Amino acid sequence: MHVLVTGGAGYIGSHTVLQLLNEGHRVSVLDNFSNSSPESIRRVMGLSNLSVDVYRVDLLDEKLVNNTLTSVKPDAVIHFAGLKAVGESVTEPLKYYRNNVTGTLNLLDGMEVAGCRTLVFSSSATVYGESIALPLVEETPRSATNPYGRTKLHIEEMLEELGASDSRWSIANLRYFNPVGAHESGQIGEDPQGVPNNLMPYVAQVAIGRRDKVSVYGGDYQTPDGTGVRDYIHVEDLAAGHLAALDYLQTTTGVHVWNLGTGAGSSVLEVIEAFKRVSGQPVPFEIVARRTGDVAESYANAEKARLELGWKAERGLEQMVQDMWRWQKDNPMGFEADHLLELSDEELAAYLQQR
Ligand code: NAD
Ligand code: UD1
Repeated sequence: MHVLVTGGAGYIGSHTVLQLLNEGHRVSVLDNFSNSSPESIRRVMGLSNLSVDVYRVDLLDEKLVNNTLTSVKPDAVIHFAGLKAVGESVTEPLKYYRNNVTGTLNLLDGMEVAGCRTLVFSSSATVYGESIALPLVEETPRSATNPYGRTKLHIEEMLEELGASDSRWSIANLRYFNPVGAHESGQIGEDPQGVPNNLMPYVAQVAIGRRDKVSVYGGDYQTPDGTGVRDYIHVEDLAAGHLAALDYLQTTTGVHVWNLGTGAGSSVLEVIEAFKRVSGQPVPFEIVARRTGDVAESYANAEKARLELGWKAERGLEQMVQDMWRWQKDNPMGFEADHLLELSDEELAAYLQQR
């Protein structure tokens, strides 16, 4: 199958592109590199010894999106491209609605023109809002607590309405829990810009010595050790969930939704402890006030994906941390490839061919 991956240079996208290539799919990547580096794709090509066509395109450029879709003519699209920083979405909400919602609209228009109506969308467990009925099942009522979450909710609703209006569409809304870890090679992984907002990349940077200590947001939650509990899922398991969803969509139409999580939670202190153990490094921490908008606990019921997709997360916390640590150790400053963004399209294409 020929799969167009939007946001394919990003964290989850790059791992998924690698698995698609390894499974024999042809892959084209559309990305504007606003939060990623083409270096990730060069490494993916090196790891797979296969090629990817890369389109430096902003989803907000309606005409270019249309032209790209028409010339690529994919059989299916996996849509990762989006902005994801919750805090920034509160201070710059319009940027988030424009990029995530309008960007998706442009993509859907382009897909219609190209006659491609198979889509896997990156939704998030954030659409469960502040629900406290655990574990979270797909039927849990949706709500949003910030503009980022609301863009995911709006896009899910938009896709449901699109599917209801035209029965030729096959759509998967995948609700990710907390993606962490990295490819076992240590060559690709999450490369957060600036100070990481999420726990795992922050802890990794403390362990490597880039930051002094972890601020633990709240030690008085109703959880076994008082700190927040989350369903961390290895990015390789998550990527595999996309391939399973893509398979499912080959034989069915309509709009489907699946939680992608492990079904088990780990606390902040458990994560810190695992990092200390795996890295052999000290991970100093301090318990501070709760972060606004955080819930005490969040974890998935992932039975629907197991039953319908035959998919289940295989990797535990230890492996998540081991793989994350390898990536951090081998790439302490991430991809360090900002200079690639200065290259012309032709120069970039030539660079990507160098393995
Ligand atoms: P990421 O930032 O690493 O990847 C997103 C990619 O999209 C980047 O390569 C970025 O350059 C690209 N992009 C953004 N806006 C674009 C635009 N207008 N045009 C073209 N490309 C654009 O993020 P990620 O962690 O890989 O997340 C992928 C998707 O999964 C996002 O939609 C995110 O909201 C969703 N998600 C992520 C998490 C998480 O914790 N990482 C959790 C739930 C959902
Ligand atoms: C955050 C986002 C959510 C997004 C998810 C995955 C917020 C409010 N929510 O969720 O929308 O879908 O990431 O990308 O930002 N923690 C600390 N210290 C830190 C960072 C985090 O103690 O420096 C704690 C948090 O309080 C939480 C846990 O670690 O209990 C995990 O936090 P994080 O990685 O940010 O993920 P979520 O809060 O689940």
